[in-house]
Amino acid sequence: MGKIIVTGASGQFGHAAARQLLDLCNPQDVVCLSRTPDKLADLAALGADVRFADFDDPASLAAAMKGGEKMLLISTLRVGTRVEQHRAAVEAARANGVDHIVYTSVVGGGLADHPGVEQKDHYETEQLIRESGADFTFLRNSLYAEAVATAMAIPALMAGTKPDNAGHGKVAIVSRDDCVAAAVGVLTQDGHRNKAYDITGPDLWSVPEAVALIAEMAGKPIDLQHVDDEGMYLYFDSLGVPRKASDVVPDGPIPWASEGMVTFGQSIREGFFDVLSQDVENITGRKPRSLRSVFEQFQHTWPQ
Ligand SMILES: NC(=O)c1ccc[n+]([C@@H]2O[C@H](COP(=O)([O-])OP(=O)(O)OC[C@H]3O[C@@H](n4cnc5c(N)ncnc54)[C@H](OP(=O)(O)O)[C@@H]3O)[C@@H](O)[C@H]2O)c1
Repeated sequence: MGKIIVTGASGQFGHAAARQLLDLCNPQDVVCLSRTPDKLADLAALGADVRFADFDDPASLAAAMKGGEKMLLISTLRVGTRVEQHRAAVEAARANGVDHIVYTSVVGGGLADHPGVEQKDHYETEQLIRESGADFTFLRNSLYAEAVATAMAIPALMAGTKPDNAGHGKVAIVSRDDCVAAAVGVLTQDGHRNKAYDITGPDLWSVPEAVALIAEMAGKPIDLQHVDDEGMYLYFDSLGVPRKASDVVPDGPIPWASEGMVTFGQSIREGFFDVLSQDVENITGRKPRSLRSVFEQFQHTWPQ
């Protein structure tokens, strides 16, 4: 097996994937990228080939990609402005011999006419990977259970209320652990080239159902308030969140824009996340984690 490049190896997804790859591969064949390689000292100590890479500095990427056969491209965080970062990574990978790109997309990432700002980025990235001539595997991940257990649960429990624009639309909330395991599976097994998978949890949930489970497990009521999209924007405005990705101050206190969150809720409400698949079990050989098990893992972080 040739070298596998892992982008975003300091992040939650990339670090977990790199750790698993180091157990399964020759460690020198696991190339871990970061803008701050010092953050990857633990992976270097395990034998990983740690390299500098900044997608905003394409000149840095040739040395980062050299010798790679496959790349796990983990989508970056700047929803609305990240396609150029992904393009730089893909172009450098192709120019340096990478012939299989595994990309962390999102459910609906294959649809050109999707209402979600997030999906638009992923759709454009999927297209540029296809056009690059590399073999591809698109991992269209559903909503992370860990995000629900933290970013959704903690403010809702603190306030006792949760404004929401997703209505009763369903989403098969998935543990990031299962998304990572699926990524490692497609990188280390044969038979996954030129495929797109929906990486989902085991059950479909509406946001009110997930919030009710949080309230039940915490023993605290949460008043879920259904609002329309403008009501959701007004809520984020009250927190000082910029509406448009183009208004985000780089490295500022709030690195994301509300249009991503509001259109995510709209996408759930309109049924775009109502997708349940067996792909996690087919790739990993085990059933995906339940939402309750992820909540149990994070329950100790919830406000009393
Ligand atoms: N489906 C969902 O519900 C959901 C929820 C959250 C996130 N996500 C997706 O999952 C992805 C990974 O999440 P995560 O939790 O692992 O994120 P994370 O912990 O914040 O890690 C982001 C990674 O991106 C890298 N990065 C950022 N800017 C970069 C640049 N200019 N050049 C090179 N690398 C750069 C960072 O590396 P360095 O700082 O070390 O350079 C870091 O390792 C997210 O970006 C998002 O697309 C999905």
